[in-house]
Amino acid sequence: MEYFDIHCHMLPGVDDGAQTMEEALSMIDLSYQEGTRNLILTPHYMRGKNKYTREELRERFNEFKAKVEERHPDFKLYFGNEVLYEEGIIQDLKDGLIQTMNDTKYVLVEFNIRTSYSQIYEAMQKIENARFRPIIAHVERYRCLFKHIERIDELIRMEVLLQMNISSVYGGLLDENARWCKKLVKEEYISFFGTDAHDMEERAPYINDYIPWIEKKCGEDFLERVFAEYPKKMVENKYIFD
Ligand SMILES: [Fe+2]
Repeated sequence: MEYFDIHCHMLPGVDDGAQTMEEALSMIDLSYQEGTRNLILTPHYMRGKNKYTREELRERFNEFKAKVEERHPDFKLYFGNEVLYEEGIIQDLKDGLIQTMNDTKYVLVEFNIRTSYSQIYEAMQKIENARFRPIIAHVERYRCLFKHIERIDELIRMEVLLQMNISSVYGGLLDENARWCKKLVKEEYISFFGTDAHDMEERAPYINDYIPWIEKKCGEDFLERVFAEYPKKMVENKYIFD
């Protein structure tokens, strides 16, 4: 299967991800070896703290994409942002300051880890009211959602999409976080996985340590949906579930 990684920080020198071209290309090579063939680069968007504008990032992305294509002609790169939600983000979206996922209506949104549920809920409503389609980045990270399946259910009913960092499924029975993550995956609350890779050490773009578990517990069909079908629909701006 030609896997999609919808969340990573490999564009060099723009955020806390890859710092140099050399590091970025090592990440690309590793990702390719792992079997990823579609990658959405999602540098952080933090209001008032961005080093580059959307246009400047786009230029850097295009240059990087060309380099990657020379190296791996069948590696497809797409462009997005991981947006840290705060007051004013809706206006930035409307003003086109934020890079949505491959220029679609889909937007990858993260929150501070201690954000309350009412803040997340309200943010989702506002984003949808502005006619964008939110994807919550690393949904397993927020304390207000941890073990609150009724909140997860409510978000799903609102048509919010959930992304999990693939390494979060790693851990034994005694690991409460891993248990929670595995439940979310097995019950098919998760629509996308990403590596959220930032470097070649602690946060490298490995996927093959985790894929077998997902396949074993959820089956090949689910694997195909979350790693190929749904992301493909997303980058084409189609509805995920139809
Ligand atoms: Fe990230």
